Amino acid sequence: MALVNTKKMFEMAYKNGYAIGAFNVNNMEITQGIIEAVAQEKAPLILQVSRGAREYASNSWLKAMIDVAVRENPDIPIAIHLDHGDTFKTCKEFITDGFTSVMIDASSKPYEDNIALTKEVVDYAHKHNVVVEAELGQLGGIEEDIVGVGHDDISKHLCDPEQVQDFVKRTNVDSLAVAIGTSHGAYKFKKEPKLAFDILEEIGKRLPGFPLVMHGSSSVLKEFKDLINKYGGKMPDAMGVPEEAITRASKMGVCKVNIDTDLRMALTAKIRQIFAEKPNEFDPRKYLGPARDAIREMVKHKLHVLGCAGKAKECS
Ligand code: G3H
Ligand code: 13P
Ligand code: ZN
Repeated sequence: MALVNTKKMFEMAYKNGYAIGAFNVNNMEITQGIIEAVAQEKAPLILQVSRGAREYASNSWLKAMIDVAVRENPDIPIAIHLDHGDTFKTCKEFITDGFTSVMIDASSKPYEDNIALTKEVVDYAHKHNVVVEAELGQLGGIEEDIVGVGHDDISKHLCDPEQVQDFVKRTNVDSLAVAIGTSHGAYKFKKEPKLAFDILEEIGKRLPGFPLVMHGSSSVLKEFKDLINKYGGKMPDAMGVPEEAITRASKMGVCKVNIDTDLRMALTAKIRQIFAEKPNEFDPRKYLGPARDAIREMVKHKLHVLGCAGKAKECS
Protein backbone atom coordinates (compact mmCIF):
# COMPACT_ATOMS: atom_id res chain seq x y z
CA MET A 1 0.00 0.00 0.00
CA ALA A 2 1.29 3.46 -0.86
CA LEU A 3 1.29 6.25 1.65
CA VAL A 4 -2.28 7.16 2.57
CA ASN A 5 -3.90 10.24 3.98
CA THR A 6 -5.82 9.92 7.25
CA LYS A 7 -9.39 9.98 5.86
CA LYS A 8 -10.17 6.28 6.12
CA MET A 9 -8.22 5.88 9.37
CA PHE A 10 -10.23 8.63 11.06
CA GLU A 11 -13.53 7.37 9.66
CA MET A 12 -12.92 3.90 11.12
CA ALA A 13 -11.41 5.21 14.35
CA TYR A 14 -14.38 7.50 15.03
CA LYS A 15 -16.92 4.85 14.18
CA ASN A 16 -15.29 2.13 16.25
CA GLY A 17 -14.06 4.19 19.21
CA TYR A 18 -10.29 4.08 18.94
CA ALA A 19 -7.48 6.47 18.02
CA ILE A 20 -4.48 6.33 15.70
CA GLY A 21 -1.05 6.96 17.24
CA ALA A 22 0.81 9.88 15.66
CA PHE A 23 4.45 9.43 16.57
CA ASN A 24 7.17 12.04 16.01
CA VAL A 25 10.24 10.85 14.12
CA ASN A 26 13.69 12.39 14.37
CA ASN A 27 16.15 9.63 13.47
CA MET A 28 16.49 6.08 12.20
CA GLU A 29 16.24 4.25 15.53
CA ILE A 30 13.02 6.05 16.49
CA THR A 31 11.50 5.42 13.06
CA GLN A 32 12.47 1.74 13.04
CA GLY A 33 11.24 1.16 16.60
CA ILE A 34 7.82 2.59 15.70
CA ILE A 35 7.59 0.67 12.42
CA GLU A 36 8.54 -2.64 14.04
CA ALA A 37 5.80 -2.08 16.63
CA VAL A 38 2.99 -1.36 14.14
CA ALA A 39 4.13 -4.24 11.93
CA GLN A 40 3.96 -6.66 14.86
CA GLU A 41 0.64 -5.28 16.11
CA LYS A 42 -0.90 -4.76 12.66
CA ALA A 43 -1.87 -1.18 13.44
CA PRO A 44 -2.42 1.85 11.18
CA LEU A 45 0.16 4.57 11.68
CA ILE A 46 0.76 8.30 11.42
CA LEU A 47 4.42 9.30 11.33
CA GLN A 48 4.89 13.00 11.94
CA VAL A 49 7.74 15.39 11.33
CA SER A 50 8.17 18.67 13.18
CA ARG A 51 10.13 21.69 12.03
CA GLY A 52 12.77 20.76 14.64
CA ALA A 53 13.01 17.25 13.20
CA ARG A 54 13.47 18.64 9.73
CA GLU A 55 16.20 21.01 10.92
CA TYR A 56 17.94 18.12 12.72
CA ALA A 57 17.75 15.33 10.15
CA SER A 58 16.65 17.13 6.96
CA ASN A 59 13.43 16.49 5.15
CA SER A 60 14.94 14.30 2.45
CA TRP A 61 16.51 11.89 4.96
CA LEU A 62 13.34 11.64 7.03
CA LYS A 63 11.18 11.19 3.96
CA ALA A 64 13.57 8.56 2.53
CA MET A 65 13.41 6.55 5.78
CA ILE A 66 9.64 6.74 5.79
CA ASP A 67 9.52 5.64 2.14
CA VAL A 68 11.54 2.54 3.08
CA ALA A 69 9.13 1.83 5.93
CA VAL A 70 6.17 2.08 3.55
CA ARG A 71 7.80 -0.13 0.94
CA GLU A 72 8.70 -2.82 3.47
CA ASN A 73 5.27 -2.86 5.12
CA PRO A 74 2.71 -3.08 2.31
CA ASP A 75 -0.06 -4.23 4.69
CA ILE A 76 0.20 -1.25 7.03
CA PRO A 77 -1.56 2.01 6.10
CA ILE A 78 0.91 4.79 6.88
CA ALA A 79 0.21 8.52 6.72
CA ILE A 80 3.02 11.05 6.80
CA HIS A 81 2.16 14.29 8.53
CA LEU A 82 3.70 17.72 9.05
CA ASP A 83 3.42 18.51 12.76
CA HIS A 84 2.80 22.17 13.73
CA GLY A 85 3.26 23.75 10.31
CA ASP A 86 3.32 27.51 10.83
CA THR A 87 2.95 29.07 7.38
CA PHE A 88 1.24 28.38 4.07
CA LYS A 89 4.71 28.15 2.46
CA THR A 90 5.84 25.38 4.85
CA CYS A 91 2.64 23.40 4.28
CA LYS A 92 3.00 23.78 0.52
CA GLU A 93 6.63 22.57 0.64
CA PHE A 94 5.68 19.44 2.58
CA ILE A 95 2.79 18.72 0.20
CA THR A 96 5.21 19.03 -2.73
CA ASP A 97 7.57 16.63 -0.91
CA GLY A 98 4.85 13.97 -0.78
CA PHE A 99 3.36 14.36 2.69
CA THR A 100 -0.24 13.14 2.86
CA SER A 101 -1.34 15.29 5.79
CA VAL A 102 -0.32 18.71 7.11
CA MET A 103 -1.06 20.68 10.23
CA ILE A 104 -1.43 24.43 10.00
CA ASP A 105 -1.09 25.68 13.54
CA ALA A 106 -2.37 29.25 13.61
CA SER A 107 -3.87 28.88 17.07
CA SER A 108 -1.79 31.73 18.49
CA LYS A 109 -3.23 34.15 15.91
CA PRO A 110 -6.51 36.01 16.29
CA TYR A 111 -9.53 33.82 15.47
CA GLU A 112 -10.30 35.36 12.07
CA ASP A 113 -6.63 35.10 11.02
CA ASN A 114 -6.57 31.45 12.09
CA ILE A 115 -9.63 30.86 9.89
CA ALA A 116 -8.17 32.68 6.88
CA LEU A 117 -4.80 30.89 6.99
CA THR A 118 -6.35 27.48 7.65
CA LYS A 119 -8.73 27.95 4.74
CA GLU A 120 -5.90 28.93 2.41
CA VAL A 121 -4.01 25.73 3.33
CA VAL A 122 -7.15 23.56 3.07
CA ASP A 123 -8.01 24.89 -0.40
CA TYR A 124 -4.51 24.11 -1.65
CA ALA A 125 -4.09 20.75 0.15
CA HIS A 126 -7.43 19.33 -0.99
CA LYS A 127 -6.47 19.88 -4.62
CA HIS A 128 -3.55 17.49 -3.94
CA ASN A 129 -5.50 14.86 -1.99
CA VAL A 130 -3.79 15.98 1.23
CA VAL A 131 -5.74 16.39 4.47
CA VAL A 132 -5.35 19.27 6.92
CA GLU A 133 -5.34 19.50 10.71
CA ALA A 134 -5.76 22.89 12.39
CA GLU A 135 -5.77 23.96 16.03
CA LEU A 136 -8.09 25.93 18.26
CA GLY A 137 -7.31 27.05 21.79
CA GLN A 138 -3.96 27.07 23.53
CA LEU A 139 -2.31 23.98 24.96
CA GLY A 140 -1.57 24.20 28.66
CA GLY A 141 -2.44 22.59 31.96
CA ILE A 142 -5.63 23.05 33.89
CA GLU A 143 -4.58 24.35 37.24
CA GLU A 144 -6.02 23.26 40.53
CA ASP A 145 -9.82 22.86 40.49
CA ILE A 146 -10.49 24.86 37.37
CA VAL A 147 -11.85 22.45 34.78
CA GLY A 148 -13.92 22.60 31.69
CA VAL A 149 -16.17 24.78 29.63
CA GLY A 150 -17.70 27.89 31.05
CA HIS A 151 -15.03 28.87 33.55
CA ASP A 152 -13.93 32.42 32.81
CA ASP A 153 -10.18 32.04 33.26
CA ILE A 154 -9.53 28.70 31.72
CA SER A 155 -12.04 28.91 28.89
CA LYS A 156 -9.86 31.62 27.38
CA HIS A 157 -7.16 29.00 26.74
CA LEU A 158 -9.18 25.87 26.23
CA CYS A 159 -11.15 25.40 23.10
CA ASP A 160 -14.72 26.65 22.85
CA PRO A 161 -17.11 24.07 21.26
CA GLU A 162 -19.25 26.80 19.71
CA GLN A 163 -16.17 28.22 17.98
CA VAL A 164 -15.20 24.72 16.84
CA GLN A 165 -18.49 24.40 14.97
CA ASP A 166 -18.06 27.76 13.26
CA PHE A 167 -14.36 27.11 12.51
CA VAL A 168 -14.95 23.73 10.88
CA LYS A 169 -17.82 25.06 8.78
CA ARG A 170 -15.87 28.05 7.52
CA THR A 171 -12.53 26.33 6.84
CA ASN A 172 -13.63 22.86 5.70
CA VAL A 173 -10.68 21.51 7.69
CA ASP A 174 -10.41 17.71 8.03
CA SER A 175 -9.52 17.44 11.71
CA LEU A 176 -8.92 19.75 14.62
CA ALA A 177 -6.48 19.77 17.52
CA VAL A 178 -8.46 20.89 20.53
CA ALA A 179 -6.98 22.29 23.72
CA ILE A 180 -8.49 20.38 26.64
CA GLY A 181 -5.71 20.74 29.21
CA THR A 182 -2.75 18.83 27.77
CA SER A 183 0.60 20.40 26.99
CA HIS A 184 3.81 19.40 25.22
CA GLY A 185 6.78 17.93 27.06
CA ALA A 186 7.36 15.98 30.26
CA TYR A 187 5.85 18.39 32.80
CA LYS A 188 2.16 18.56 32.01
CA PHE A 189 0.61 18.89 35.45
CA LYS A 190 1.81 20.26 38.76
CA LYS A 191 -0.49 18.13 40.86
CA GLU A 192 -3.23 15.85 39.69
CA PRO A 193 -3.76 15.45 35.92
CA LYS A 194 -7.01 17.00 34.73
CA LEU A 195 -8.58 17.13 31.30
CA ALA A 196 -11.77 18.86 30.15
CA PHE A 197 -13.73 15.88 28.82
CA ASP A 198 -16.86 18.01 28.83
CA ILE A 199 -15.43 19.91 25.85
CA LEU A 200 -15.05 16.68 23.87
CA GLU A 201 -18.58 15.69 24.78
CA GLU A 202 -20.00 19.03 23.68
CA ILE A 203 -18.09 18.98 20.36
CA GLY A 204 -19.33 15.42 19.76
CA LYS A 205 -22.93 16.64 20.11
CA ARG A 206 -22.43 19.60 17.82
CA LEU A 207 -20.27 17.90 15.17
CA PRO A 208 -20.94 14.16 15.24
CA GLY A 209 -18.38 12.23 13.20
CA PHE A 210 -15.81 15.02 13.11
CA PRO A 211 -12.30 13.79 14.07
CA LEU A 212 -10.44 15.52 16.89
CA VAL A 213 -6.74 15.47 17.71
CA MET A 214 -5.01 15.46 21.09
CA HIS A 215 -1.55 16.99 21.23
CA GLY A 216 0.70 16.69 24.25
CA SER A 217 -0.54 13.18 24.95
CA SER A 218 2.53 11.39 26.27
CA SER A 219 2.02 9.58 29.56
CA VAL A 220 5.54 9.96 30.97
CA LEU A 221 5.73 6.26 31.74
CA LYS A 222 6.95 5.40 35.23
CA GLU A 223 9.34 2.73 33.93
CA PHE A 224 11.36 5.25 31.91
CA LYS A 225 11.06 8.12 34.37
CA ASP A 226 12.46 5.84 37.10
CA LEU A 227 15.31 4.61 34.90
CA ILE A 228 16.27 8.16 33.94
CA ASN A 229 16.26 9.29 37.57
CA LYS A 230 18.11 6.17 38.72
CA TYR A 231 20.90 6.53 36.19
CA GLY A 232 21.93 10.13 36.64
CA GLY A 233 19.01 11.98 35.04
CA LYS A 234 16.95 14.59 36.84
CA MET A 235 13.26 14.50 36.00
CA PRO A 236 11.64 13.94 39.41
CA ASP A 237 8.54 16.05 38.75
CA ALA A 238 7.78 14.78 35.25
CA MET A 239 4.08 13.97 34.83
CA GLY A 240 2.04 13.00 31.78
CA VAL A 241 -1.51 12.24 30.71
CA PRO A 242 -2.80 9.05 32.39
CA GLU A 243 -3.36 6.28 29.88
CA GLU A 244 -6.97 5.78 31.05
CA ALA A 245 -7.62 9.37 29.94
CA ILE A 246 -6.21 8.61 26.49
CA THR A 247 -8.43 5.55 26.13
CA ARG A 248 -11.45 7.54 27.33
CA ALA A 249 -10.77 10.37 24.84
CA SER A 250 -10.37 7.87 22.01
CA LYS A 251 -13.99 6.88 22.55
CA MET A 252 -15.12 10.52 22.47
CA GLY A 253 -14.14 11.58 18.96
CA VAL A 254 -10.37 11.85 19.43
CA CYS A 255 -9.00 9.98 16.39
CA LYS A 256 -5.34 11.08 16.50
CA VAL A 257 -3.13 11.09 19.59
CA ASN A 258 0.29 12.79 19.38
CA ILE A 259 3.22 11.16 21.15
CA ASP A 260 6.79 12.41 21.18
CA THR A 261 7.96 12.79 24.80
CA ASP A 262 7.39 9.09 25.58
CA LEU A 263 9.65 8.16 22.64
CA ARG A 264 12.35 10.55 23.82
CA MET A 265 12.17 9.23 27.37
CA ALA A 266 12.33 5.57 26.31
CA LEU A 267 15.41 6.25 24.19
CA THR A 268 17.12 8.36 26.87
CA ALA A 269 16.34 5.91 29.69
CA LYS A 270 17.89 2.95 27.86
CA ILE A 271 20.99 4.85 26.81
CA ARG A 272 21.49 6.15 30.37
CA GLN A 273 21.09 2.65 31.78
CA ILE A 274 23.65 1.14 29.40
CA PHE A 275 26.17 3.94 29.93
CA ALA A 276 25.86 3.52 33.71
CA GLU A 277 25.99 -0.28 33.73
CA LYS A 278 28.68 -0.67 31.06
CA PRO A 279 30.91 2.40 31.25
CA ASN A 280 33.39 0.84 28.83
CA GLU A 281 30.80 0.47 26.05
CA PHE A 282 31.52 2.67 23.06
CA ASP A 283 29.84 0.86 20.16
CA PRO A 284 26.71 2.93 19.31
CA ARG A 285 24.94 -0.20 18.11
CA LYS A 286 25.16 -1.60 21.62
CA TYR A 287 23.22 1.27 23.15
CA LEU A 288 21.11 2.52 20.23
CA GLY A 289 19.95 -1.05 19.50
CA PRO A 290 18.45 -1.59 22.98
CA ALA A 291 17.04 1.95 22.85
CA ARG A 292 15.27 1.05 19.59
CA ASP A 293 13.93 -2.13 21.24
CA ALA A 294 12.62 -0.07 24.16
CA ILE A 295 10.81 2.22 21.71
CA ARG A 296 9.28 -0.77 19.93
CA GLU A 297 7.93 -2.29 23.14
CA MET A 298 6.63 1.07 24.40
CA VAL A 299 4.83 1.77 21.10
CA LYS A 300 3.31 -1.74 21.07
CA HIS A 301 1.88 -1.02 24.50
CA LYS A 302 0.54 2.37 23.32
CA LEU A 303 -1.23 0.79 20.36
CA HIS A 304 -3.32 -1.20 22.84
CA VAL A 305 -4.01 1.87 24.97
CA LEU A 306 -5.23 3.65 21.82
CA GLY A 307 -7.22 0.61 20.72
CA CYS A 308 -5.77 0.61 17.18
CA ALA A 309 -3.78 -2.66 17.45
CA GLY A 310 -5.10 -5.11 14.85
CA LYS A 311 -6.91 -2.36 12.88
CA ALA A 312 -4.52 -2.02 9.91
CA LYS A 313 -6.81 -3.93 7.58
CA GLU A 314 -10.00 -2.04 8.34
CA CYS A 315 -8.14 1.28 7.87
CA SER A 316 -6.71 0.28 4.49
O1 G3H B 1 5.01 19.49 19.06
C1 G3H B 1 5.97 19.12 19.69
C2 G3H B 1 6.73 17.91 19.33
O2 G3H B 1 7.14 17.27 20.50
C3 G3H B 1 7.88 18.23 18.44
O3 G3H B 1 8.90 18.84 19.15
O4 G3H B 1 9.66 20.71 17.67
O5 G3H B 1 11.16 19.74 19.45
O6 G3H B 1 10.62 18.44 17.40
P1 G3H B 1 10.15 19.48 18.38
P1 13P C 1 4.12 15.10 23.90
O1 13P C 1 5.15 16.11 24.27
O2 13P C 1 3.14 14.90 25.02
O3 13P C 1 4.68 13.82 23.44
O4 13P C 1 3.27 15.71 22.68
C1 13P C 1 3.75 15.65 21.36
C2 13P C 1 2.94 16.45 20.40
O5 13P C 1 1.86 16.92 20.69
C3 13P C 1 3.52 16.67 19.06
O6 13P C 1 2.75 17.53 18.28
ZN1 ZN D 1 1.83 19.15 19.25
